[in-house]
Amino acid sequence: VQSLLASLLPAGIAFAEASGEELEGPLPPLWPGEEGGVGPQAVHKRRVSYHWGRALARRAIESLGGEVVAVGRGPARQPIWPPGLVGSITHCDGYCAAAVAPSAEWLGLGIDAERLQEMTAGVVARIATADELRRLDERDDRQRATVALFSAKESLYKLWFPIARSWLGFHEAEIDLGGLAPAPPVAPPPAAPDDAQGAGDTALVGPFTARLLVPALAAGGREIERFEGRYGCAAGRVVTAIALRAQDLELI
Ligand SMILES: CC(C)(COP(=O)(O)OP(=O)(O)OC[C@H]1O[C@@H](n2cnc3c(N)ncnc32)[C@H](O)[C@@H]1OP(=O)(O)O)[C@@H](O)C(=O)NCCC(=O)NCCS
Repeated sequence: VQSLLASLLPAGIAFAEASGEELEGPLPPLWPGEEGGVGPQAVHKRRVSYHWGRALARRAIESLGGEVVAVGRGPARQPIWPPGLVGSITHCDGYCAAAVAPSAEWLGLGIDAERLQEMTAGVVARIATADELRRLDERDDRQRATVALFSAKESLYKLWFPIARSWLGFHEAEIDLGGLAPAPPVAPPPAAPDDAQGAGDTALVGPFTARLLVPALAAGGREIERFEGRYGCAAGRVVTAIALRAQDLELI
């Protein structure tokens, strides 16, 4: 079964996903150094997310051929990747994924998954700028586009934070979503989950751009203010991904 993330991430980026019943099975063990993300009070749902996020992160590292080590957790909740790697983790109801890439080729990576659901006007106003609201109103898939916009901003933050080491607010970047088209067939990864796409559910994918409204991000000797990402919808979920190539020519 085709994975949505496989259609969103550029070649050279490893990922691993789990969903559905697999997540309801035994919890994969944490490795020493990974325990910090779930305190003794953590509810079961959080344990599932955290344990699976770490297990999938290690699985993705393994599929890159790297030495598999614990993926720790920094003070701002960011995953601590082994030297030479960048990566990102996401989880939403019934789905968990991790993506990892060599830092020699990729400066940063952000992935995010959200369940496709109605967002209240108050929440939408908190996450979207006036221009974004206007563009959302012009779309005939407003609900899906709104979730995608939110997710794209979370992906951007996951890429942004490990580089900038600072906060980025929802009104400090603007997302422009392109149109959606059926996902082209791709080879499934070794661990593609059974409902990765959803039986009989055509995956739709499309591009988006993210533009910073704050000073550009200094990374890899460049100043970057615009990022290219991809988003997709399948199995009642929206997934977004942004990968920043080390030799990207998006100079300002
Ligand atoms: C960090 C954040 C983006 C996580 O998104 P989410 O939809 O709540 O949750 P997800 O399950 O998709 O992702 C959680 C994972 O994000 C990662 N994450 C958390 N904080 C992070 C940070 N500062 N930098 C990078 N990754 C981070 C972690 O791996 C975490 O999982 P873990 O705790 O199991 O390791 C969100 O909680 C947040 O703080 N958002 C506000 C900032 C923002 O999005 N700004 C928009 C800028 S335009």
